[in-house]
Amino acid sequence: MKIGVLASGGGTNLQSLIDHWRKGTLAPAELTVVGANVATAFALERAAAAGIPTFVLSHKTFAAREEFDRALAAELRARGVELVVLAGFMRVLTPAFLAAFPHRVVNIHPALLPSFPGTHAQKQALDYGVKLTGCTVHFVDTGTDTGPIIAQTAVPLLPDDDEEDLRERILAEEHRLLPAVVRAIAAGKVTVEGRRVRVAGADAPADARLRSL
Ligand code: GAR
Repeated sequence: MKIGVLASGGGTNLQSLIDHWRKGTLAPAELTVVGANVATAFALERAAAAGIPTFVLSHKTFAAREEFDRALAAELRARGVELVVLAGFMRVLTPAFLAAFPHRVVNIHPALLPSFPGTHAQKQALDYGVKLTGCTVHFVDTGTDTGPIIAQTAVPLLPDDDEEDLRERILAEEHRLLPAVVRAIAAGKVTVEGRRVRVAGADAPADARLRSL
């Protein structure tokens, strides 16, 4: 299955996908293209270093959100992309994009949705005072971080955490969860019934870290 990754920033999740792909542990998924809406996104350099084709499509050059989304979908389609992975892509996508990839766009979010959607999820968790947060991989729908949940991992907040401590602890789990989900989708193990997503072979959380995959 041909994967297109979209990113806006540093791209450590992209790097994790690249590392798995190189080791052969992302198969049957293959990284086909990496796109960014920001020309300076370091994710583009990571992709180039791995020999993956890249493109930049700046949302600022489009008058309307839908126009950007249509152009973005066309770019990915032209490259044969079958599954779109948002890995730190900081744009909300409209139906103009999603219609081109029904149930074929996934996002990783640094919280246990539906808690703390949107931006600054780690700060939201710290400010609220929860004891557990985590990361979620979900299908993208037209809401902000509201689509059907595929897999989650819980991460504890420690008493002296600042935002950076928590960001790093969650990222370590993101780097494990996202490749696992991409591999499962590419292998045809993921089915969706309404809001319920089933991953074949994934049982109830098997260890103390409360992983769903
Ligand atoms: C990740 O923590 C990801 O979950 C988050 O941005 C970071 C990107 O890091 N995404 C969102 O907050 C989306 N709402 P990375 O560029 O190093 O992969």
